[in-house]
Formats: sequence, C-alpha cells, structure tokens
Amino acid sequence: MTDTRRITTPFTAQSTAAEVVEGVDLTGRRVVVTGGASGIGVETARALAGAGAEVTLAVRNLEAGERTAEDIVATTGNKQVLVAPLDLADRASVAAFVAAWDGPLHILVNNAGVMASPETRTPEGWELQFATNHLGHFALATGLHPALAAAGGARVVSVSSSAHLRSPVVFGDIHFRERAYEPWLAYGQSKTANVLFAVEASKRWAADGITVNALMPGGIRTNLQRHVAEEDLQAMLRQSGAAGVVWKTPEQGAATSVLVATSPLLDGVGGRYFEDCNEAGPHQEGTRRGVASYALDPEAAALLWQVSIDTLAA
Ligand SMILES: NC(=O)c1ccc[n+]([C@@H]2O[C@H](COP(=O)([O-])OP(=O)(O)OC[C@H]3O[C@@H](n4cnc5c(N)ncnc54)[C@H](OP(=O)(O)O)[C@@H]3O)[C@@H](O)[C@H]2O)c1
Repeated sequence: MTDTRRITTPFTAQSTAAEVVEGVDLTGRRVVVTGGASGIGVETARALAGAGAEVTLAVRNLEAGERTAEDIVATTGNKQVLVAPLDLADRASVAAFVAAWDGPLHILVNNAGVMASPETRTPEGWELQFATNHLGHFALATGLHPALAAAGGARVVSVSSSAHLRSPVVFGDIHFRERAYEPWLAYGQSKTANVLFAVEASKRWAADGITVNALMPGGIRTNLQRHVAEEDLQAMLRQSGAAGVVWKTPEQGAATSVLVATSPLLDGVGGRYFEDCNEAGPHQEGTRRGVASYALDPEAAALLWQVSIDTLAA
C-alpha cells in the first residue's frame, strides 16, 4: 500500500543544494538538467556533478552552456559535465535531443522556464510559457521514457512554482485564443501543468520504477525576472503581503530540486509537491505557500496528459 504521510526532512528553506546531497554518491548515474546554464539550473547541476554524476546541461545557448560546464568542472573536479542543444519551444529541437540520447538516464531535471513574458506564440500558435514550461518538457520526458525506464529507479524533477496558485490549467482556452492574454495567468497555468505532469507520470510510470515529483524552489533573483520591471516586482510583493520576502541564494534555490532528485527519504515517492525541502501541505487562503488542490487533481492530470499528446501530434 502507498504511504500517504507527508514527507518531512531535516532540511529547511536555508539549506543549500550541497548540504542536501551530502553523503549521496551519484557515481555512474546520468543526469540531464534543462536550463542548466542559468540561475537555479547551474547550482542544481553543480551539486549533482559534485556528488559524482555525469551531468548534461540541456541548453539553448551553447556558449553559456560551455562556460557553465567549465566552471562546474573547475569547482567540482568532475570532468563529466556535458552540454547539448535544447530549445523547449521547438519540437524539432526536443526530438533531436531525444534522438541523440543513448543509454540509461537516471535523473531528469525539468528546470528551464520562462516567466511572465509578453504575449508570444510558437509557430504552431501555442502560448509560449505553456509551450516552453510544459509542452517542451512533456515531449522531452515522454521521449526519454525508454531511457528513464532502462535506468531502474529513475527520478524526474518537475520545477514548478508557488505561482501555480494563480491559475489552474484552463482547458477551455489554454492558449489564450478566447480570453485576453495575461502574462501571470499564463505563467501560473504552465506551473500548474508542471505539477499535474508529476501526478500523471508517476501513475503511468510506476511499473517502470520511475518517480516524478514537483517543487517550488523559493524566490531567487535570477534571469527569470527579466520580463518584470523592478517597480512591478516590488509592487506585486507588497500587494501579496510578501514585501519582506527573503530571497534565497541560487544554492538554496537549487536545494529542493536536488532533494527531490536524490534524497533516499523520497524513495518510491511520486506525484507530490515540495517546497523548502519538505512536502508542502494544502494551500491556505491568504498565503503564498502550499499546493492547490487543482494541481494534484488526478482527473485534470489525466486530461492534461491526453491534451498534451494531442497538441504535440497535431
Ligand atoms: N527564480 C525564482 O524565484 C523562481 C521561483 C519559482 C519557480 N522558479 C522556476 O525555477 C526554474 C528555473 O528558473 P531560474 O530562476 O533559474 O531562471 P533563469 O535563470 O532564467 O533560468 C531559466 C533557464 O531556462 C532556460 N530557457 C528558457 N526558455 C527556454 C527554451 N525555450 N528552451 C530551453 N531553455 C530555455 C533559460 O535559457 P536562456 O538563458 O537561454 O534564456 C535559462 O537557462 C524555472 O522553471 C522557474 O519557473 C523560479
């Protein structure tokens, strides 16, 4: 029987990725980190490489990827840090990455993301944040499923956000064709999709020993805020009652991803949402913490899976 007790760990919001992975030996394990050349992705990749894994930075900016790889090799002494091209908003690029992958994959960290971008559409007409944050990662993970299954006990990490509290997946108009575009609703919707993916993938892939969990990394100043003017960011924080927010460092921001990717405390655990290195409780109105019930809804998760397959096949 599945243990449904909430997972707690000795780690906190202040823990770093290096602290979380201490004592874990990833020698012989192969890892992919999307968006591994910026922000949280760099520190996620560094901690996993530091624990001995072969780490592939899946990036759209190869130059930044090579620079980051050199830096990680220099700081960890692990020479197995590779760089491969991946543009999540481009189906052909995702397919090429999958086709080029050879052998088992033990840990896939779906970390890349775009936040609150102005209205932008892919050539297919898909809204960019949903296309990048969800559809691209969905195509990547399902494409790599045989490699994950071959690893035996693989983990997939789905980097979501507390912004998922801003919107469920609006199945009637995912791509903002009927409603007016709103950058934060689009971001929130895509981040709910990241949680629903963990719910359905864990169910479908349990027999292959693959577990998938979602997480909120915390608030970290990175390139993610590039589309948000500083005064808007501050006004938003004031409105939400979070003006006194303490930003995490990128090393702290990577901690929950690394915990979900490696902690023995999560063995066999899937379809859950973590924040500050612990499983989150249900969202309480008036806070920015916890997980929305719509993000863990198994029916919505199954529907999103089918919609994603249909969308990518069209
Ligand atoms: N920072 C926070 O406060 C915060 C809070 C909650 C959740 N998150 C989540 O944490 C994750 C990492 O964010 P971050 O803060 O580290 O942001 P970041 O520094 O902007 O890193 C995001 C990465 O995603 C990559 N990316 C964007 N679009 C892509 C595409 N089409 N194909 C491939 N890669 C693409 C970016 O590549 P380029 O460098 O080429 O643009 C970048 O490397 C995101 O999923 C974000 O939603 C962050």
